[in-house]
Amino acid sequence: VFSHIVRAPEDPILGVTVAYNKDPSPVKLNLGVGAYRTEEGKPLVLNVVRKAEQMLVNDRSRVKEYLPIVGLAEFNKLSAKLILGAESPAIRENRVTTVQCLSGTGSLRVGAEFLAKHYHQRTIYIPHPTWGNHPKVFTLAGLSVKTYRYYNPVTRGLNFQGLLEDLGSAPSGAIVLLHACAHNPTGVDPTFQQWEQIRQLMRSKCLLPFFDSAYQGFASGSLDADAQSVRMFVADGGECLVAQSYAKNMGLYGERVGALSIVCRAADVASKVESQLKLVIRPMYSNPPIHGASIVAIILKDRNMYNEWTIELKEMADRIISMRQQLFDALRARGTPGDWSHIIKQIGMFTFTGLNKEQVAFMTKEYHIYMTSDGRISMAGLSLKTVPQLADAIHAAVTR
Ligand code: LMR
Repeated sequence: VFSHIVRAPEDPILGVTVAYNKDPSPVKLNLGVGAYRTEEGKPLVLNVVRKAEQMLVNDRSRVKEYLPIVGLAEFNKLSAKLILGAESPAIRENRVTTVQCLSGTGSLRVGAEFLAKHYHQRTIYIPHPTWGNHPKVFTLAGLSVKTYRYYNPVTRGLNFQGLLEDLGSAPSGAIVLLHACAHNPTGVDPTFQQWEQIRQLMRSKCLLPFFDSAYQGFASGSLDADAQSVRMFVADGGECLVAQSYAKNMGLYGERVGALSIVCRAADVASKVESQLKLVIRPMYSNPPIHGASIVAIILKDRNMYNEWTIELKEMADRIISMRQQLFDALRARGTPGDWSHIIKQIGMFTFTGLNKEQVAFMTKEYHIYMTSDGRISMAGLSLKTVPQLADAIHAAVTR
């Protein structure tokens, strides 16, 4: 009965790792998936995470019971505080409902399912380009996906005029997906003043913001600075949704820890929204896993552990920033044609190099460097040792 099934293509991002794993070359380099690597090219488990896990193991009172449908209460409270700020009036007034979800993707999906069921507008505007999974998550949840202009390939910066025009002509009430910081894949974010203009335009048209916050602390090294776009929208008293992921900023990729917060205008609304979120979650996966959320809760609630985390987080962010400079210098030293200043201007985990599909394929074939076909490279996968290899490959690809 399944013989008619045709083979599906690999995922455009995770499929890069599949191809990389098949390559027997000893010099192969994976700059595809956004996952942090040390200078030695190894995945990193933060010390503070190891410590929290040790505490979990030592605590014999901990059991493996089901969590509630909405997840670990303490984790939810602390997650809302982390993204909205400890002093957020929305939290104080109990206008926020937060549910633990399966990392960023799961949080987006739960939010999207909720909106498809309960919100009057089914259209969501996503930036062009955006993370490859966004259109699939929203379409499969039942929303209708449209795009707004975001990136200008000529300046390799923001197409702010295009963005304002497209959001300006969106139908009243439409949902708008915003990357809270460190836009994936472009590494291009609006300035503070531009965010303010976006906020005013969106509020004047009653557009509903849905933030994807996957890199808090990773863009600038500061948890507060990377949350400022979200906090601006919450400060005006209006509604918004926020999907948070702890994959990158705590290195908890495979633990699948994230949260969805829905900020409402009144406490009783938030509590009714939560009751409906439970109906969304229960038939999907019943309730979320306990281990990762417990790690996060331990770290966020203890001042010393929290401080330790911010230091390790800043080290990761700083290493990525230094890789940008190294790559930029290496291309300059080679006299590689083109203006590569966007490598140091873009922020977050990725550089959107501007390399085309053919150039990417050439670099993979000749230099065993793996990256997504849109020319995005994960700066977090680079090291001092591998920068020259990448610079040689880029140089060869653009001078071919
Ligand atoms: C990425 O964009 O590489 C990450 O967000 C990982 C993923 O799931 O795609």
